[in-house]
Amino acid sequence: MEKTVFKQPKRAALWFGIVALAVFLTPSGSNAQEQMPPPVTPDTIDRGHAFFANNCGICHGVDAHNGDKGPDLNTGHFKHADNDADLFRVITHGVPGTIMPANDLPAEQVWAIIAFLRSTVVASRTVTGSNVAGGKAFFWKAGECVDCHMVSGKGGVLGPDLSAIGSLKTIAYLTQKIRDPDKELTTGLREPNADYVVPISNSTVTVTTKEGNQITGIPRNEDTFTIQMIGTDNQLHNFLKKDLQRIDHAQKSLMPAYGEKQLSDADLKNVLAYLSTLKGGRE
Ligand code: HEC
Ligand code: HEC
Repeated sequence: MEKTVFKQPKRAALWFGIVALAVFLTPSGSNAQEQMPPPVTPDTIDRGHAFFANNCGICHGVDAHNGDKGPDLNTGHFKHADNDADLFRVITHGVPGTIMPANDLPAEQVWAIIAFLRSTVVASRTVTGSNVAGGKAFFWKAGECVDCHMVSGKGGVLGPDLSAIGSLKTIAYLTQKIRDPDKELTTGLREPNADYVVPISNSTVTVTTKEGNQITGIPRNEDTFTIQMIGTDNQLHNFLKKDLQRIDHAQKSLMPAYGEKQLSDADLKNVLAYLSTLKGGRE
């Protein structure tokens, strides 16, 4: 008698243990949805990109698009997922009946992959909410962005035209460009002579004339005898090299870095929200 009395709770405890273990080990359903993403650190996206390239790149392409066997994952829309918890579930469980496999990656890696996937979506499909009007005001007034950039035919020509930037670039890229423009310089296509085009980095060039005048700008074109540049005065300048004392090139951007003093994180969000509305007729 006594034995059976003792056996019951033991068995119950055992079952409870098994069920608890199973729930714990299965990154499924409610459990996965309850898991909160760990805080995003500056290297989260890079690490997510690396995890993605290693585990998923073979089907989806290393940058989450143009893969051979899996769909593009940077369109901003998922067939099987509306939010991050859904994505977590799809990535860990796979899509039954397709070659999309289940993955038993550590949760932290799955979240990093999700952060990476979110970062690959162009701005116009991601930014919502923030104060677009505030961002627009900063762009056109306090931030002086318009001194160097054109939007819909108005503004400077030193930097690239931003009329469609929201459809072309991701939030991660735009954030980096505003906070640290030197990190990755854009290139422009120039025609050195009519029959071929080469990309020239939008770097900085300073020429000193024989008279000692200095003009700084972005190189447009350079050959043995001449150099053309767009000056910080937004004018195109052509020089014969024989009229110059010196030409100095620097691999840095003429765009000022907007640190938190010039542009708080909250204001940055607004600027990103404004840029995300610039679609230049594209979608
Ligand atoms: C063997 C090829 C393969 C591998 C490896 C693979 N996938 Fe997939 N994945 C697919 C296919 C095919 C689909 C489309 C399934 C369908 O028909 O709905 C898919 C779908 C998805 C979806 C859902 C897309 C949507 O529109 O809802 C996500 C998210 C995804 N994969 C992420 C990943 C991640 C992250 C990894 C790596 C951890 C990965 N996949 C590894 C082939 C693969
Ligand atoms: C003094 C001129 C100047 C100002 C002011 C300026 N930029 Fe720029 N910007 C540039 C130049 C030059 C480039 C191209 C060189 C480079 O890649 O950094 C550039 C590049 C960019 C790019 C990359 C475009 C592309 O096609 O990839 C973005 C986005 C951008 N700027 C946004 C802004 C925003 C937003 C502001 C205001 C908060 C701003 N810029 C203020 C000069 C400026």
